[in-house]
Amino acid sequence: MSNQPIGIFDSGIGGLTVATQVRKYCPGEEIIYFGDTARVPYGTKSARIVCQFSYQNTRFLLQFRPKLVVIACHTASCLATDYLKQEFPSLVLVDVLKPSVEKALNHTRSGRIGVIGTTATINSKRYQMSLESANNSIRVYATACPLFVPLVEEGWIDNQVSREIASIYLRPLKQKKVDTVILACTHYPLLRKVIAGVLGDGVRLIDPSEEVAAQVAAHLRRGAANRSSVGRGRLRLYFSDCSPRLKKVVRLFLGQTKVTIKELKPDFLPEVFNV
Ligand code: DGL
Repeated sequence: MSNQPIGIFDSGIGGLTVATQVRKYCPGEEIIYFGDTARVPYGTKSARIVCQFSYQNTRFLLQFRPKLVVIACHTASCLATDYLKQEFPSLVLVDVLKPSVEKALNHTRSGRIGVIGTTATINSKRYQMSLESANNSIRVYATACPLFVPLVEEGWIDNQVSREIASIYLRPLKQKKVDTVILACTHYPLLRKVIAGVLGDGVRLIDPSEEVAAQVAAHLRRGAANRSSVGRGRLRLYFSDCSPRLKKVVRLFLGQTKVTIKELKPDFLPEVFNV
């Protein structure tokens, strides 16, 4: 078990924010990342489709016999975790919802928490229900920010357009005087500067990727499942579609300039990136 990889999937490249942290917390581990770039975005789709795609992504990762699978997508975490647990009862699944909620509850002083995410995530009400059921004095203000994902994909992470859009989306949260905002979408940590600029210094932004990674590391320690081989584990990146600009965006997410692309010819996936 210990030398098996950690599987991570997301609807696209956003989950690389989580993969980066898992690499930091578990440097010796082999990581297989799958980004469903052919079918992204999930945030505009129905629960049924998100469940179906998440099921296929998990099946893809299972061929590598992972010791656990991280659902690094907030939309899939909200809409498909229960379904995946039911379909793969013996698989250890780590989602991004619980760590986000716990972190926000630890940080808030006023009890006024904002949640921003895709339309599907916000409409699922999973964040709102999880926060309120943990503590019924908490007030949750949730807003979908659908244009944030294409902005990040375009690399417009800090310009006049991104600032303008952020100020429109975030105005209601500002008016509600939230002191904590959950970045409930894998892309949003890249807009942190713009979001913080609109909300002001007093508002704590919650990105759960570190907590997710800490949870993975703790799970491996508990089960004595750390990889026994010495040296840094590889991060292998699989995408269901490789557009010409994918490499550029992957670099943006990983914060590194050298990204090597290697082609594969499996049935489901046309390409693999080896970083
Ligand atoms: N990965 C998705 C999420 O975290 C964002 C992109 C999408 O809409 O698929 O919700």
